[in-house]
Amino acid sequence: MSRSMVGKSMALVLCLLFLAGTAVAQLPRETAEQKEARMKWWTEARFGMFIHWGLYAQAARHEWVKKRERITNEDYQKYFEVFNPDLYNPREWARMAKAAGMKYGVITSKHHEGFCLFDSKVTDYKATKTPAARDLLKEWVDAFRAEGLGVGFYYSLIDWHHPHYTVDRNHPQSANTDEEYDKLNQGRDMSIYRQYLKDQVRELLTHYGKIDIIWLDFSFPGDKHGKGRSDWDSENLLKMVRGLQPQIIVNDRLDLMDVEGGWDFRSPEQFKPREWVTMNGKKVPWETCQTFSGSWGYYRDETTWKNTKQLLVLLIETVSKGGNLLLNVGPTARGTFDSRAQESLKSIGSWMQGNSSSIYGCTQAPPEFKIPEQSLLTYNAKTRRLYLHLLDWPMGQIVLEGFADKVKYAQLLHDASEVRMSVRRQTTWIKEDARINDLVLSLPIVKPNVEIPVVELLLK
Ligand code: GLC
Repeated sequence: MSRSMVGKSMALVLCLLFLAGTAVAQLPRETAEQKEARMKWWTEARFGMFIHWGLYAQAARHEWVKKRERITNEDYQKYFEVFNPDLYNPREWARMAKAAGMKYGVITSKHHEGFCLFDSKVTDYKATKTPAARDLLKEWVDAFRAEGLGVGFYYSLIDWHHPHYTVDRNHPQSANTDEEYDKLNQGRDMSIYRQYLKDQVRELLTHYGKIDIIWLDFSFPGDKHGKGRSDWDSENLLKMVRGLQPQIIVNDRLDLMDVEGGWDFRSPEQFKPREWVTMNGKKVPWETCQTFSGSWGYYRDETTWKNTKQLLVLLIETVSKGGNLLLNVGPTARGTFDSRAQESLKSIGSWMQGNSSSIYGCTQAPPEFKIPEQSLLTYNAKTRRLYLHLLDWPMGQIVLEGFADKVKYAQLLHDASEVRMSVRRQTTWIKEDARINDLVLSLPIVKPNVEIPVVELLLK
């Protein structure tokens, strides 16, 4: 081969390598409008059900029990051997979600413990090999679809059971020194686990029809006993996800925050953002995930359950800041929802029955509407209606500063009864600032029998 030919073939190889490199990094491109259209159903839905269900339901003391108590695979095996949710009826779950006003569900196909609810071909650590003896995920998907709900899979990137998943600081067998880690990780080959995780995500996205959402959870980069994008091969994993399910909505825990197309929404967890979540100064889609009590998995002795009003405020406030709420249920190992969860879902549902139009398709109110004290505003841009949620029932009147020239009609949302309006001048005894543009709503003294009453304001 002549020198120039060698040079040319080198250049070709380099060029191919470069192309391969960029091909790896390149996620499908889309415009902001395309992304908005892809996410439209989800943004309008506003409210979904998270479900954390796995072997940890039997320990009934948090889904991180294996880590918290540093349980070994051998000792954890007892849960696998007795797992038999004889009362599991996902149609019932779907009905409860729907009756609560939820529009989609996201279930743990596998949580950090590594146990799979689905019939994965690449492991025996799955429901089909327990006394349950069937693909529990399949039944769930069918049930949720039958109720017209969106279906989403949570899949844990972390895996405390797989023999090649390297021990890190979140692992049940986490160590204290580098030497200890080296010893524990001898013979573990993360690339084998990486392939396993890709194989499983592929199974999830090919065997269950159209999947609306995927939750890949989670990365903790930053030191050598953490894990991030190179451990999961996040970009290629995501590329595969988008290739298999082009319409799917993906969360933000792959450690790809700085990569275009690396995430679809932010996922503040157990945390109520004070304003619309932004990235680099721009408002972005977001969904807060929250529990009824302090744990995701079923926790028998946990008592910090939020009451109905707190849950409703959570939902309304989230929408008032342009976000979604994913509210979690941790079913028992028999396959049932705890009675406290059932009660809460029912109460939310009865509020939603009369008031859901202040939630679906709604978002933050335009800035010219000043939020009155003790209340939350949501807004439907399509119907041009503003929803005033009264968290603390006012006595007789409420004054909406600067609203008078903007509102043409007001009514209570749950029963469409007129709320009479006037423009504030002065009170009987005290002369107040005569701001001609303040709108006064006259409300009944007795609070309607609605947990959080809503006034619907039809805008001019
Ligand atoms: C966390 C936890 C987990 C839970 C999840 C929900 O990352 O590890 O147990 O599944 O968040 O957002």
